[in-house]
Amino acid sequence: MYQKIKGTDDLYGDQIKYWYWIEEKARKLSTIYGYGEIRTPIFEETKLFVRSVGQDTDIVQKEMYTFEDKGGRSITLRPEGTAPVVRAFVENGMLAQGLPQKYFYIGPMFRYERPQSGRQRQFHQFGAEIFGSPSPIADAELIIFADRLLKELGLVDYEIHINSLGNEDDRINYKDALKEYYAQHLESLCDDCKMRYERNVLRLLDCKIDVKYAENAPKITDYLGGESEKHYKELKRLLTSAGIDYVEDPRLVRGLDYYNRTVFEVHHHRLGAMSAIAGGGRYDGLIKEIGGKEVPALGFAAGIERLILSLKAENVQVDEISKNVVYVTYLGSKEARDEAVKLAELLRSEGIPTGLELMERSISAQLKHASRIGAKFCVIIGEDELERDVVVIKNMETGEQVEFEKNFVVNGIKDMITEMQ
Ligand code: HAM
Repeated sequence: MYQKIKGTDDLYGDQIKYWYWIEEKARKLSTIYGYGEIRTPIFEETKLFVRSVGQDTDIVQKEMYTFEDKGGRSITLRPEGTAPVVRAFVENGMLAQGLPQKYFYIGPMFRYERPQSGRQRQFHQFGAEIFGSPSPIADAELIIFADRLLKELGLVDYEIHINSLGNEDDRINYKDALKEYYAQHLESLCDDCKMRYERNVLRLLDCKIDVKYAENAPKITDYLGGESEKHYKELKRLLTSAGIDYVEDPRLVRGLDYYNRTVFEVHHHRLGAMSAIAGGGRYDGLIKEIGGKEVPALGFAAGIERLILSLKAENVQVDEISKNVVYVTYLGSKEARDEAVKLAELLRSEGIPTGLELMERSISAQLKHASRIGAKFCVIIGEDELERDVVVIKNMETGEQVEFEKNFVVNGIKDMITEMQ
């Protein structure tokens, strides 16, 4: 028997309603906030991710699904959505459409991580990106949007963490301070961290092994220059004035290299170790870095699997997907079958979810099946009914049967459905 690849999932049955719930609300809210959808390919040139996410990040070092295609090119399944959207923005000359521009996406991402609850190798993100604004009002609007989305989904038990990473100049002094601090612990650091110490000292702060050292490390916010500090202060003021609850988290650095100034993460209180349900920030240098003009930008992404775990943990009731309300059954003859097909089509064209017997079972087996799949009404087309131009409707809850003239059957069923609601 074949098995799915470790860290991937088959989604069907009762799971699907959660995906509809999130995707529909995310699409609707994105439109309300002025985001247009963008769909980029699932794989890209490997270089794109190395350049944007960063050579020394865990994603690039350990987690990418990279392979050579038959033309000898190095290809990577996208581990995240920002780099592809930025690539599309530059490649398609989208800057010419004026600024700001706002895009959202929903789709699968791939990271070779150790699978556990809330951590998959194929997972899905809803992401949003804003191009063009350097102003903290854009950062505030983005965080307000993320918060609003979570609330619309029905979540309440989460916390928004924010921090500022300053700009490149601010980080020169900060990196020196970090080096000085970590120098005392160098011997006891994990092998990866020893390498990070040499190559990209900021990455030491999000090591999953040497967490205890990060706790006492110098804080980036003590090293912000005037402009960065002003930006961060104004963001906080705007968030407070908009009624958004947040906590400042001076050790939040995020696991991708492209960020500057604002970074944020949303943590759900009931998810245990994998509690980050969304994360993002500003990446003012990235568009230029991959060949475009200097265009400030920012965005965030939420993990859909983790949102679903949160919905379940908070016991949020999501809409059921409407199953077959009516089931059309019939007895053997050709005429009865023709009639059944026509009637099922008529009910469906009226928007009534309708099932049709496809297995040609006995009438009692058909009724049993209808009740198993939760149909509210059965249409029964028998020889006798055919002759008299009538149809029998059986209420599956009460067992009551009524006869309708063929021409009135659609209205009859509609009335019965309305009565039931
Ligand atoms: P990220 O923090 O790497 O950011 O991922 C965003 C979210 O995706 C996480 O908060 C988490 O909910 C979910 N996620 C990440 N990895 C996994 C996994 N292995 N299994 C399940 N869920 C996962 C980014 O990807 C950035 N591109 C976000 C961004 C957009 N920044 C600016 N614009």
